Order: sequence, then C-alpha cells, then structure tokens
Amino acid sequence: MTTDAWRAPKGTNDILPPGSREWALILQLAQSCFASAGYEPVETPMFEHTEVFERGVGEGTEVVDKQMYTFTDQGGRSLTLRPEGTAPVVRAVLEHNLHRGPLPVKLCYGGAFFRQERPQKGRYRQFFQVGIEAIGSDSPLVDVEVIEVGTRFLQTVGVEPTLLLNSIGHVDPSCRGAYLATLVEWLKAHEGELAPADRQRVNTNPLRTFDSKENKTVGAMKAAPLITEHLCDECRAHFETVQELLGTLGVGFRLEPRLVRGLDYYTQTAFEFVAGGLGSQNAVGGGGRYDGLSESLGGPPLPGIGFALGVDRILLASSGQMTRGTQPHRVYVVALGDRAAREALKVTTDLRIHGIQAQLDLMGRGMKGQMKDADRTGARWAVILGDDELAVGEVTVRDLESGYQQRITSETHALAKHLGMEQER
Ligand code: HAM
Repeated sequence: MTTDAWRAPKGTNDILPPGSREWALILQLAQSCFASAGYEPVETPMFEHTEVFERGVGEGTEVVDKQMYTFTDQGGRSLTLRPEGTAPVVRAVLEHNLHRGPLPVKLCYGGAFFRQERPQKGRYRQFFQVGIEAIGSDSPLVDVEVIEVGTRFLQTVGVEPTLLLNSIGHVDPSCRGAYLATLVEWLKAHEGELAPADRQRVNTNPLRTFDSKENKTVGAMKAAPLITEHLCDECRAHFETVQELLGTLGVGFRLEPRLVRGLDYYTQTAFEFVAGGLGSQNAVGGGGRYDGLSESLGGPPLPGIGFALGVDRILLASSGQMTRGTQPHRVYVVALGDRAAREALKVTTDLRIHGIQAQLDLMGRGMKGQMKDADRTGARWAVILGDDELAVGEVTVRDLESGYQQRITSETHALAKHLGMEQER
C-alpha cells in the first residue's frame, strides 16, 4: 500500500473537533429553521440509478457529463453517488406517491454529496449541503417562502448573503425556446469573440455560455441578448410578483439577468446566495423552480422549487462567528482521591441527566492536571470533590472565569439547579 492510502482521498475532508462542532450545529440549526416553515426531514439513498441524474439534472451539464462518481455494481446496474439532492427527492416523492397527498409536499435534507471537481478552497469532491424542496405548487408565494427561509437561515449562521435573482422562463417556444434560437444566432455571429474552450457550447448547451469563467467569453456575453427580455407574459408576471413579495418581506435581492445555474431542470425563478471572503467559489447556495423535473423522471406535471446551501462554504464564510456565545457553559468535575473519583462519575452522570454538559478526568490526573484539562475542555465551572466535601455531602463550585467559589450541597438536584441557573445567565 502506498502512503497515499492513509490519507483521505483528494477533495475530501476529515471534519475534526473543534470545527466539527460548528459543522454539527449548522445541520441542527438548519433543521429547526426549515421546520419553522413546515419542512419535514427526508433521507434518500447516497446513490441512485444513474438515469435519475441523467434525466433529472440533464446530459450536457458539467455535473452529469464530467463530475459524477458512477460505478457498476455486482449486479451490473449503473449507479451514481448523488451529486445533488433535488432529483433524488422528486424521485422519492413520485415513487411513494406523496404528491397524491396534501400539497405542497415540503421536505428538507442535509448530507454528503459527491462531484469529481478540481478541488480548491470551497470546492470539494465530497461536500455537504442542507436544502429544502416544496413540491406541488406553482404559486409565487412558494418561491418567496423558500427564498426567505434560505436568507434567514444564512443570517442565523452568521453569513450576510447577497441574493442574486433571475427568471429563466419555461421551455416552451413562446418563452425560453424562442430566446434560445435568438441566443444561438447571436453566439454564432460572435463566435470569434468567445474563448475557444466555449465555442462548442453553442451546440451543446448555449445558455451555459453565460456560466463561462473565461474572461474573453465573460466580456463578450455582456452584449448577448438576455432571457429576461424574452419571457412570455405568464413567466414575466410570475417573476414580477416574486420580486414584489420579496420586497414586502424586506428580503433584499439583486437582479442578475445572466444567472442561468448549472443544472438543466430549472424553469422560471433561479437564484443564488453569494458571500464575501470565499474567493472564486463565492456561491454559498443556490436554487430555483423546476416545474418540468417530475415529467423528466416519468411522473405527472408537478411544479417544484427549492434550494441547497453548501455547508463547507457556510463554515468558511461565517468563520467561527456562529458558535460564539452559543456554547453552553460546561462543567468539569474535579476529584481528589479514589473515593472522590468514584463519586465524581456519579455526580457527572447525574448532571448530564439533568441536561448539563459535564466531563470528568478519565486519566488519573492530579488536581493541577485536572484543572488544566478543565480549561482545555472549555469548562466554565469546576465542581470539586475532595475528602472534606465528601464528609459533609457538599461540593465546591468554582467559577473558572472569576475564580469565585462556594460550597453547596452535592445533592444533584440542587447542584444541577444551581449550575443550570448559572448556565442561563
Ligand atoms: P448547486 O448550485 O449545484 O445546486 O449547489 C448548491 C450549493 O452547494 C452551491 O452553491 C455550493 O455552496 C455547494 N456546492 C456545490 N458543489 C460543491 C462542491 N464541489 N464543493 C463544495 N460545495 C459545493 C444544487 O445542488 C441544487 N440541487 C439546488 C436546488 C435545490 N435547486 C432546487 N432545489
């Protein structure tokens, strides 16, 4: 085995303490924020039949053509590690007929996703997303609900996002269909102004030319016709209502008529949350409507909208602000002597049962070593058990910040109450 075998594969991360605390907190806060708007957890498999992504996300997209971890299992089936969550969620809704129940079906998720991208800061091969999907309503109210939840969640975790907003219409000849013909004509006429690497896009996925990172193409596309000038009346009205309703909720946004998103299922509303301090990978999340996705997966017409936020990028963008002030004050039970050590285990357990985070020495350290360990664990309070204290059924509670200490009864209910009250301050 080469030494490389002992390293995590390229583009993957071990999420270790103390950073893992924030990581876990994001997942937890996401669930409660999404629940506040009625989104219920859903878990889909880590892998799907490859077709779910080929048909859902679309052949011709970077994700499907270049980034999927696809493998053949022992039974000869082509399976793919999920590169995103929307197609699997819609697949699950259709398979279990959730769309025949009350609509919209409102679901949320969090977990690992896989794309074989060139790794760099904020871009990994295994990354984490939290997201929501509202399936079954085409009302602009849902667009606004979804966008507001995403904005609020990012603010909760210490990210001040800029919301980029666009509408890319629907696939009909009366709308995006006609626009694409105009765009292709324009791209052909201006082929020489595009970077050579982008010239093929005219034939494969013309809209995606707006996504190019090549300076030459980005410059040229500034003069290209815009989708927003070619929306059908219905899509235009929908988009205007979304903007108006976002305004009534005080959700700020910036219109970005060149925002096309990298996945093919999008229709109408498309959006991205960007944040500073992330370099070129500045999108902390994105989403939009996908009114045709159900049909691409063989289901009935079923509109939907949702978003996914990148947890790895949220962590980079919030840089530790999130857990500041949210750490509960921990307790470290210090034991002096063997008898006290046994008692310490009981006191610690009782505190935990009362909902107070508590730790104790498990390495046979002396008093000095235990105080140092208390400091290492971030404890705010030391509960000290010595022979004196044991003899009278008391403990010494020391505030490790101020040094103030007092004796109180070791009766756990009273002790937990005392520490619990201190914890709330
Ligand atoms: P997406 O824009 O491909 O959308 O991904 C959403 C977010 O996931 C990105 O903005 C980014 O923060 C994060 N992300 C994506 N790829 C990587 C990567 N390689 N490394 C680190 N972070 C990454 C979707 O996935 C859609 N399913 C969103 C959606 C839900 N649309 C409707 N509903």
